[in-house]
Amino acid sequence: MTSTEQKSPSAAGSGASATEVFRASRASTDAEGAVAAERVDEVARAVLTAVHDVIREKDVSYPEFQAVKQWLMDVGEGGEWPLFLDVFVEHVVEEVAARTQQGTVGTIQGPYYVPDQQRLPSPAALPTRPDEKGDTLVFSGRVVDLDGNPVAGAELDIWHADGQGYYSGFAPGIPAGNLRAVVVADDAGRFEITTVAPAPYQIPTEGPTGKLIAAAGWHPWRPAHLHLFVQAPGYRRITTQLYFQGGDWLDDDVAEATKPELVLDPQRGDDGRLHSEYDFVLEPA
Ligand code: DHB
Ligand code: FE
Repeated sequence: MTSTEQKSPSAAGSGASATEVFRASRASTDAEGAVAAERVDEVARAVLTAVHDVIREKDVSYPEFQAVKQWLMDVGEGGEWPLFLDVFVEHVVEEVAARTQQGTVGTIQGPYYVPDQQRLPSPAALPTRPDEKGDTLVFSGRVVDLDGNPVAGAELDIWHADGQGYYSGFAPGIPAGNLRAVVVADDAGRFEITTVAPAPYQIPTEGPTGKLIAAAGWHPWRPAHLHLFVQAPGYRRITTQLYFQGGDWLDDDVAEATKPELVLDPQRGDDGRLHSEYDFVLEPA
């Protein structure tokens, strides 16, 4: 990834890196299944009709149309489509998926997952740099089924931004795999993960997504969060995030991906570290 060669402490290039990772994930999941012509017709027509309606309602002019065309080209050339779509669209796709889900509520995956991380038995410490900044966070709990029985050996594939809001594998200068791992729960479904508390995340301001946000006078922030896939054989995989009570942007997430059920309230222990517990509930596949 070219972005990791840059030394500036910005997230420039994160969007383009997300495009490379997304393409690789498509290649490995055989995701090109044919979509029926009727479905393409139905959805593509509805999208175009919605766009036509906006043009009429808002009296969109030729100069505005050409500016939009330029911006759409820039998003593609800058590799920011995964970033843009995951911030502004994914939450509604997740809302539709959630209609048929039980157990722990989900939320968006976002563009910064990297597969095939180290597997660590619980209790585990996520990989950190020697000088990793931020408060130590001890995150523990249980994985149970809908009846409350433990799911032995459940996997918690966890990834999150660092104490400055940057993700390894995307922002420059952070070692691969930093603050990422697949933690395996014990026979009682218990897990304990030691990491550092993440900071809020800012959409890179230099790219076309950031420029749109600035031009519209919006803000580019997501509240601090942990990302997780929680899974076990025979159960439906949960894609979710956990947030922090009282954190900045919790009530004004640019990605609209917070839910009240997903907020942790860590407490500082006598050991000086932050502690928080959460139980995940898996439904059968
Ligand atoms: C984006 C970044 C995130 O960290 C996240 O959780 C969701 C979306 C984004 O920039 O698209
Ligand atoms: Fe994120």
